[in-house]
Parts: sequence; structure tokens; C-alpha cells
Amino acid sequence: MGEKHLISGLQLWQWRNTALQAAIATDVSPAEVDWLLLEVAGLDRLALRLESFKNWPQIQLQLPLEELDSLWQRRLNDRLPVQYIAGVTPWRNFQIAVSSAVLIPRPETECLIDLALASASNTSGHWADLGTGSGAIALGLADVLPATIHAVDYSLEALAIAQTNARNLGFADRIKFYQGSWWEPLTFLKGQFSGMVSNPPYIPTSILPTLQPEVVNHEPHLALDGGTDGLNCIRHLIEISPSYLQPGGVWLIEMMAGQADAVRELLQNQGSYCKIQIHADLAGIERFAVAYKS
Ligand SMILES: C[S@@+](CC[C@H](N)C(=O)[O-])C[C@H]1O[C@@H](n2cnc3c(N)ncnc32)[C@H](O)[C@@H]1O
Repeated sequence: MGEKHLISGLQLWQWRNTALQAAIATDVSPAEVDWLLLEVAGLDRLALRLESFKNWPQIQLQLPLEELDSLWQRRLNDRLPVQYIAGVTPWRNFQIAVSSAVLIPRPETECLIDLALASASNTSGHWADLGTGSGAIALGLADVLPATIHAVDYSLEALAIAQTNARNLGFADRIKFYQGSWWEPLTFLKGQFSGMVSNPPYIPTSILPTLQPEVVNHEPHLALDGGTDGLNCIRHLIEISPSYLQPGGVWLIEMMAGQADAVRELLQNQGSYCKIQIHADLAGIERFAVAYKS
């Protein structure tokens, strides 16, 4: 989407009208059409609302109209998420680049950053974002904590996106990236972490096929599948993290609705954690667990 493609305002106005009608007919939110145009055509909200762009002689698109249209057809027919079409999604105060190699960062995950800040006994030193995906959590942490952030993912394609985001958003010198499984690339810093934040895959394998087609057919299963009971990755992170955290270091994860009791029990049984807390998201659902290395 680097180069610019010129079309007339009238052409884009006609495309928008057709797209709006098709959205309504296929149960897609018509607001997605305008959000997409804000992103790929650089239109402002007022020009869209007043439809004043209809009379503009030229509009610059970030991709040819034919390509935009064929992606939009995939939105409607294949349920391709609109964020993958735009190549970007808003998250906290950032515009985060996304591709189908990464999970689209969700609004509820924004809470993890505020929880990390509120829970931290040491806001500096080394912090880890395990399973960084687009890099959203690492970026959020780098924004609020005066720490070095170590971001790990198993997927090289995801890491490439995360690194692009860090560069574009001015955090390249604050976040270090590693390919590998969970803590494994960080053994050289064992016992030194002030905190660990993760939004791991936590969906039980049998539930995956029941998710919306936007999710199950387009988002990476490596980012979703948490094994039989959904807790495989969380169990591993509970087991291994104490040897990486300093005493008083924060352990903070996101989980699925309904997993809080099991996660609390796993943390208690591990024996190396104290002050275990469960926090709700903005909808009042218990979605986050915080604990401290004893
Ligand atoms: C639910 S996504 C979270 C992505 C991002 N942190 C966010 O909150 O939007 C989980 C991430 O964990 C990564 N992942 C899965 N298994 C992993 C493993 N064994 N080691 C490291 N990362 C892993 C996936 O590639 C994916 O990027």
C-alpha cells in the first residue's frame, strides 16, 4: 500500500454507495465502509459525512480501487476482517499495523497496560511481553513504563509486523524482539524481570470452530488455540515464570471468561506466588489475573 492511486471523488462516492448497500444486505456494519475509507483514502470524517468528496476532482487511495473492491468483496463473502483490509487498527493511542500473521489487538487487552502500571512494584528494569503478536502490549508497556521491554513470539511473520510497529511508532530502541517459545529466548535474564505480561492463546480447541468466521477463518490459530481446556499456555507460564521474575515481580495475563477460578487455583498450587488478584474488563467479566513472585 506504499504508492498512491488517483481516482475521482465521484468514482469513490459511487463505490461507497454500492459498498454501503452490500454491507447492509450481508449483515456487516456499514460503519466499516467509512472506517475503511478513512484509512485507505485519507478522507476526513466531515468529508465523508457531508459527502463533499463527491465533487473533488481527485482522491489519493493507498491501493487501486479494483484491489480495494476485491478485498471488500472478501470482507462480505469470506468474512475477512476489515482491519486486515486496511492493514491497520486503532489500539490505545496507537495506529497498529496488522496482517493476517497477527491477531487483531482487542480493546479489552488495552486494560493490561493500565493493570501493569497499577500493579508494578518496579516500573523500570526488564519487562517481558510473551506472545507479542503485532507488538501491541510491548508498545503499550514501553509507552507507560521506563523499562526495557523484551517481546517474544514463536511466529517470525508476527515478529516482523511487531518490529515494523515499534519502528514506526518510535519505540525501536525500547523494545527488543526474540523468536522462540515463551521465556526460552530470555534465559540470559533469568531472575531479573520486574514484570511479565501476556495475552496467550486461551481458547479451548473444541470451541475454535464455533467462533465467528472472521476469527476462526482468518486469525492465526497459533494465536488462538489454548489446547483441550484452553489453559495449556497459561499453565506453562504459571510454572516457568517464577524462575524469571525478581522477588516482587509482577505476573499478569489475559484469559477467557470462565477461566478465572482455574487460573487462581493453578497460581495458588504453584506455591511461588502471592497477592493473587483477578480483575474484570470494562464489561465486568473476569479477564485478567495478577500475581507477584514471592
Ligand atoms: C492471543 S495472541 C496475542 C497477541 C498480542 N499480544 C495481543 O495481545 O494482541 C497470542 C500470541 O502468542 C503467540 N504464541 C503462541 N504460542 C507461542 C509460544 N509457544 N511462544 C511464544 N509465542 C507464542 C502467537 O503467535 C500470538 O502472537
